[in-house]
Amino acid sequence: MAILKVAKLGSPVLRVLADPVEAIRDPEIQRLIDDMIETMRDSHSVALAAPQVHRSLQIVTISPIHDERPARSLALPPIVLINPRVVREGDRTEEDWEGCPSTPGLHGKVPRFTALEVPAYDRQGQSLTLKASHFLARVIQHETDHLVGKLFLDRMKDLGTLTFQGELERYWLSSSG
Ligand code: NI
Repeated sequence: MAILKVAKLGSPVLRVLADPVEAIRDPEIQRLIDDMIETMRDSHSVALAAPQVHRSLQIVTISPIHDERPARSLALPPIVLINPRVVREGDRTEEDWEGCPSTPGLHGKVPRFTALEVPAYDRQGQSLTLKASHFLARVIQHETDHLVGKLFLDRMKDLGTLTFQGELERYWLSSSG
């Protein structure tokens, strides 16, 4: 496995539609998935989309840290979604902070739908439908946006909460606990 270079804001690969994966079990695709998981862990990212490692393909990896029981989440494998679609359940949205390894140090509040159904394929090529709400739904919307050339900055209502890491901790998170 290898740690891959992460594409940063300004890289054209972050702004184009990613291609669907056709041969999911192809060894090259399997290696890419393993490398994405290792890169995600190395950068302490919640999740990663293939365009962020300069591969314009519809692959998303998500850390199991969304699980509310930390002891159990350590044993959970990462979620791998291939060719995912996002079907929202209802119109409810909520706003919360997001950041992204492709825009290091930047954070902002982003409105997202609170509940989704996500038809996709797993890394064995089996079709699945993931149900997701709140934080996991947010992560999936952020990552699937990467597959259509969108960044969280594009989804902010305005840039009023756009904040560097240090200022986030100093001004936005400290008072609210
Ligand atoms: Ni991102």
